[in-house]
Amino acid sequence: MPLGVHLASRTVFLVSLLGGCGRESIDLEALRDPASCAGCHPEHARAWAGSMHAHASDDPVFLAMNRLGQRTTSGALGDFCVRCHAPVAVATGATSDGLDLEQLPRALRGVTCIACHQIDAVGEIHNGDLAWTDDGTMLGGLQHPVSTPAHGSTRSSLLTSVALESSKACGACHDVVLPNGLAIEQTFAEWSTSLFAHPEIGLSCAGCHMIGSDAPAALHGPTRRVHDHAMAAVDVALTQWPGVEDQRRGIARDLKGTISTKLCVAPGAGGVEVTITLDNPQAGHAFPSGTTHARRLWVEMVAETGGVATPITGAYQAGEVVHAGAPASAWVLGSRFRDASGTEVQLPWLAATIESDLLAPSVTADRTDPRFYHSKSRSWLVPGSPERIRLAVHLQPIGLDVLDVLIASGDLSPSARDAMPTFDLEGASLEWLAARDGLGCVQ
Ligand code: HEC
Ligand code: HEC
Ligand code: HEC
Ligand code: HEC
Ligand code: HEC
Repeated sequence: MPLGVHLASRTVFLVSLLGGCGRESIDLEALRDPASCAGCHPEHARAWAGSMHAHASDDPVFLAMNRLGQRTTSGALGDFCVRCHAPVAVATGATSDGLDLEQLPRALRGVTCIACHQIDAVGEIHNGDLAWTDDGTMLGGLQHPVSTPAHGSTRSSLLTSVALESSKACGACHDVVLPNGLAIEQTFAEWSTSLFAHPEIGLSCAGCHMIGSDAPAALHGPTRRVHDHAMAAVDVALTQWPGVEDQRRGIARDLKGTISTKLCVAPGAGGVEVTITLDNPQAGHAFPSGTTHARRLWVEMVAETGGVATPITGAYQAGEVVHAGAPASAWVLGSRFRDASGTEVQLPWLAATIESDLLAPSVTADRTDPRFYHSKSRSWLVPGSPERIRLAVHLQPIGLDVLDVLIASGDLSPSARDAMPTFDLEGASLEWLAARDGLGCVQ
């Protein structure tokens, strides 16, 4: 009988598994430590160790900003920031303000394995409002997990990438609302009103950010659909950190096709009018998303006339601050904070309002719906008759003006400024040639 055969092979397999990675059950203390997972889940542990989740309590920009925030608010910030950047340290009472993160045991730092795998309820979907199991059970997406003495295994729709509900578990942290009610990171909110949250065509956060492949989920286990835990996106580890090379490769891979571009040339007064269109067909939320107040996405256009290249917009020097709204000819996407008096500020706890220029995600697949087209365009006048126009799109994970505030306050080492990369979105580059393309568009 096929069922019997199946059960028999499962039993054989269990025995070899126990031989392979330990019979011991693990106590709750050890289950908090990602190092105790590595023996049986080496690939998951390796990928996670190079992620921003592992880095969240070590990120020098985070540490600097939390330090400055605690000082300038005389501690009123409390555990607001660490609730998401060191959730297990907060839940176990090891920290209340994050000022001591560097002294805490490594097992408590960052968004650790159990910070996700023991989530059993999500309250409000922002500000880290999560509840965790405390019985050593790991929640995940496996069908019929092989039993292990190390921990119980239970399937939960909050931790299964094919379930749209799993986005809530991510969203609890990937959505930040300040105590004054200002929503400053809205990745979950953006996703929840996008096409990707639609029950039929939907894709969860993990559905896009955790690429699947076929391999054992535990050492010597059966082949499963397993999911990459590196979750590279935009942000980078600025310090010596495991897997930084892989992280850079992952970022380049994912950014490559994220936005699509179009460049159109039409006659203009004393030259040509060039219109650039940016679209976000790929991201399940706005682009940029998350910490958009720190992020800088901009277009660079250079025109060549008679062999002489002239920068038209966005030609910043290395190390120069890229800032929305200055100069007016620049197109910098992202967000800006203002305080109650309307003055622009860089730090979240000073913010009273936020203005954003972002690329919205797809919200409908219906071409007759006016919301179907959600791209953004801007035009520039290029004098004379250029023979060549080049377009590139660049992205800085954290703007240098934000780092400068933290360096000036003495909270961040100036070396962070030199370490901050600028990425080119490879797939977004375009070249228009008068001889080849004439008055018209390239995309
Ligand atoms: C002694 C070996 C062992 C150790 C140590 C271990 N696991 Fe597992 N784990 C397993 C086995 C075996 C499975 C089931 C694999 C399968 O069925 O393919 C599993 C399954 C899982 C699952 C999937 C659960 C589900 O229902 O979908 C998660 C999540 C998980 N482990 C997380 C962890 C974490 C986090 C740690 C460290 C705190 C850890 N494991 C430590 C052996 C281990
Ligand atoms: C307990 C809070 C928490 C949960 C739950 C959580 N994250 Fe995160 N995530 C963070 C924090 C904090 C960072 C940023 C760390 C840093 O940059 O210092 C982050 C970073 C990321 C990044 C990298 C962002 C970038 O700009 O490079 C991605 C991608 C990501 N998370 C996806 C997910 C997905 C998908 C889920 C759900 C499966 C999830 N996260 C669940 C807190 C969380
Ligand atoms: C940001 C949240 C998050 C963190 C942190 C995290 N995981 Fe996962 N993990 C997931 C999600 C979501 C899935 C489920 C994917 C699915 O089944 O669709 C998963 C799946 C798994 C599985 C089942 C096999 C698979 O790949 O689907 C194992 C085992 C696992 N994780 C182990 C770990 C270990 C060990 C750590 C820490 C070193 C860890 N995870 C950290 C979110 C996380
Ligand atoms: C349809 C696929 C898709 C879905 C669904 C999706 N993302 Fe993304 N996400 C992307 C792409 C593409 C990017 C940009 C490329 C990159 O950097 O990885 C991105 C970027 C990010 C970033 C980096 C921030 C930035 O400025 O771009 C974070 C953080 C993130 N996603 C978290 C999430 C969370 C949390 C969810 C669920 C609420 C989610 N994503 C759902 C595709 C997706
Ligand atoms: C609700 C959970 C949550 C809270 C609260 C939170 N963060 Fe974050 N933080 C995140 C997530 C998620 C990311 C990654 C998002 C992304 O890359 O777009 C992040 C990224 C960051 C980054 C690195 C990325 C960047 O571009 O700046 C810094 C620095 C940071 N947070 C500082 C803080 C500080 C300081 C506070 C308190 C004022 C705070 N965070 C509060 C979840 C949170």
